[in-house]
Amino acid sequence: MEFRRINALPPYVFTIIDGLKIAARRAGEDVIDLGFGNPDIPSADIAVEKLAEAARNPRNHRYSSSRGIPKLRLAVANLYLRRFGVDLDPETEVLSTIGAKEGLSHLMWVLLGAGDAALVPSPSYPIHIYAPLFAGAEVRRVSLMGGEEEFFANLMESFQNAWPRPRVIVLSFPHNPTTACVDLAWMQRIVEFAREHEVVLVHDFAYSETAFDGYVPPSILQVPGAKDVAVELYTLTKSFSMAGWRVGFLVGNPEIVQALAKLKSYLDYGTFQPIQIAATVVLNEAPEYPKEVNAIYQGRRDALCDGLARIGWELEKPRGTMFVWAPIPEPYREMGSIEFASFLVKEAKVAVSPGVGFGPEGDGHVRFALIENEQRIGQAVRNLRRALEKL
Ligand SMILES: Cc1ncc(COP(=O)(O)O)c(C=O)c1O
Repeated sequence: MEFRRINALPPYVFTIIDGLKIAARRAGEDVIDLGFGNPDIPSADIAVEKLAEAARNPRNHRYSSSRGIPKLRLAVANLYLRRFGVDLDPETEVLSTIGAKEGLSHLMWVLLGAGDAALVPSPSYPIHIYAPLFAGAEVRRVSLMGGEEEFFANLMESFQNAWPRPRVIVLSFPHNPTTACVDLAWMQRIVEFAREHEVVLVHDFAYSETAFDGYVPPSILQVPGAKDVAVELYTLTKSFSMAGWRVGFLVGNPEIVQALAKLKSYLDYGTFQPIQIAATVVLNEAPEYPKEVNAIYQGRRDALCDGLARIGWELEKPRGTMFVWAPIPEPYREMGSIEFASFLVKEAKVAVSPGVGFGPEGDGHVRFALIENEQRIGQAVRNLRRALEKL
């Protein structure tokens, strides 16, 4: 059968490692899973309690609002004011989405079509590449392998060389998988560029709160005038450990936010209302919760990075995200990331994501997700020491 929109999709490489992990577990092996970025930390009690209570009320069983209930949008506006000093009109500048991924995917339908082009960092979270492609647009990958400064220069060059002129630049800092981080001055420069060249900036801020050593990730909307050209995706997935709840938001430029609201009014009826109610309560009453989650990730990051350094696998500690982006150590580099990650599942019983899954430039790396506790991470390091004899 012919499925034109999806036929060109390459096989999802993460399923290869997942298959090996499942097979090893079936064979009775204890595989330590640092592969998929699926948070293991429980959501706040207050969210679970409110969800249960709201679910008992039949009024909440009906279709909800696709834009998000007003109190939830107000809670997001308050969060932006409190956290970033950014003023948002909850009526026109905040829209509820079914997680950041859904929001970003449908946003690309609104912004792009056949004949348009988008600039996307490479490597990147897969949907950043595929959402513009699904919308029928061309994607130019811009290398982020050399860090954020080189990325900025690469962006400028790609923009100048691209025809048609890109209509959208996708950004996401702290960045998955490279863990690159930027400061407000960097955001200022890209906003200036976008204003000058009339290009839309889409900032996926999935790791808004997940940062360490005193680093505070900036919202792109903190830049004065950013609302003229930028929108941002904010999500409760990582910061509030609510991955399965599917609660995200698009905030910023009101014209773009309203355009997505219009499309979504045709597509969905929003997240289940008890979830929206629970999310509202969490945002209003548990504003410190992200700090607790973050402290856990920081402990795991240190356990992994310090442990790897002790066995001779040197890498830089990330300042943000819940990942460690690790260059494949020299004696194993020839293998490429799929073979190396497969080797780690089989020989060390540790599952990681092969870097090539995030784009061809990622093939010299693997990504560890910090989704097991410190003790298990310590065990992973001991397993790795035994398996990586050549280190
Ligand atoms: C950069 C990035 N964006 C979005 C998501 C998914 O967010 P959500 O669960 O809100 O769809 C992830 C999850 O790993 C991510 O890394």
